[in-house]
Amino acid sequence: MTDLTALEADLIGQIDAAADVAALEAIRVAALGKSGSISGLLKSLGGMSPDERREVGPKINGLRDAVAAAIAARKTTLEDAELDKKLAAEALDLSLPAVPRRKGSVHPTMQTMDEMVAIFADMGFAVAEGPDIEDDFHNFTALNFPEKHPAREMHDTFFFNRKEDGERMLLRTHTSPVQVRTMMSQQPPIRIIAPGRTYRCDSDATHTPMFHQVEGLVIDKAIHMGHLKWTLETFLARFFETDSVTTRFRPHHFPFTEPSAETDVQCDRSGGELKIGQGSDWLEILGCGMVHPNVLRACGIDPTVYQGFAFGMGVDRLAMLKYGMPDLRDMFAGDTRWLSHYGFSAFAAPSQAAGLS
Ligand code: DAH
Repeated sequence: MTDLTALEADLIGQIDAAADVAALEAIRVAALGKSGSISGLLKSLGGMSPDERREVGPKINGLRDAVAAAIAARKTTLEDAELDKKLAAEALDLSLPAVPRRKGSVHPTMQTMDEMVAIFADMGFAVAEGPDIEDDFHNFTALNFPEKHPAREMHDTFFFNRKEDGERMLLRTHTSPVQVRTMMSQQPPIRIIAPGRTYRCDSDATHTPMFHQVEGLVIDKAIHMGHLKWTLETFLARFFETDSVTTRFRPHHFPFTEPSAETDVQCDRSGGELKIGQGSDWLEILGCGMVHPNVLRACGIDPTVYQGFAFGMGVDRLAMLKYGMPDLRDMFAGDTRWLSHYGFSAFAAPSQAAGLS
């Protein structure tokens, strides 16, 4: 006759040691299943004498009940533990940082704008802003565009419908109106840049209806073109991360500057790659000049006391040149593959100290 006490101890030991519900089920089948050890004992009762059966029967039944109860208890414990584990694994800790799967990225235009701001801020420029929806005075008249003069047609302007008083608002065609707003609201010395969106009714491989400019304005008593040239060359060398750049000022016409120039930088285009600061080619990069006395006067600044320079450049174009993007239109297509290729990490904010790109 099997030693029932030893069998019970063995089974209880196994039950307590069962690591999970599946292991526990295997023990239950081996003990209480059809051909299990305890089931075998129960079957053996049939072949016993009535006296023997009376003595052993309750013990075997007791063993079966004890083992069944131990299994049920262990099962509850294991199921509770499994649930706790699952809950712990599923718990949301809202204080954790976001999963570092880089889905979003900073658009190259915005990164370039931040680089420009960082460079000019280091040179002592403040950032000024103005509205995208402008009036005729700030966008044209105060900037010395004569009334009904074809110079106004230089910019393919998006006009709004006329208001009741006949005034026609427009989407600013350049960031130059911020010059006007700045000069009308503060006294010289002035040293600002104005980054922002600009709009023209134009669309091809090198023009988009919305694009970005950075405007610059410096007004003081003895500002001259030498200051302008130094400022632009210093900016361009830092922006293109070369030791120095050579610039060429070509005479040009802007109504708001006199003299006016377009600035080219020396570059090398051989080998299909653009290198700034070397070579024998020239790349047109911005417009600039000395602020026209009429503009100063329109803004309430005395041109016999103050003078200064201004410049304006296209941010998207500079971003394309610096980061080698071939088509301007791609920059506005919102294609996530393009963005994840050319985009920047939000944590890579440019600064003179930490590096620009
Ligand atoms: N406003 C000009 C444009 O959008 C760019 C420009 C040229 C700005 C010369 C200036 C400047 O401040 O001096 O084409």
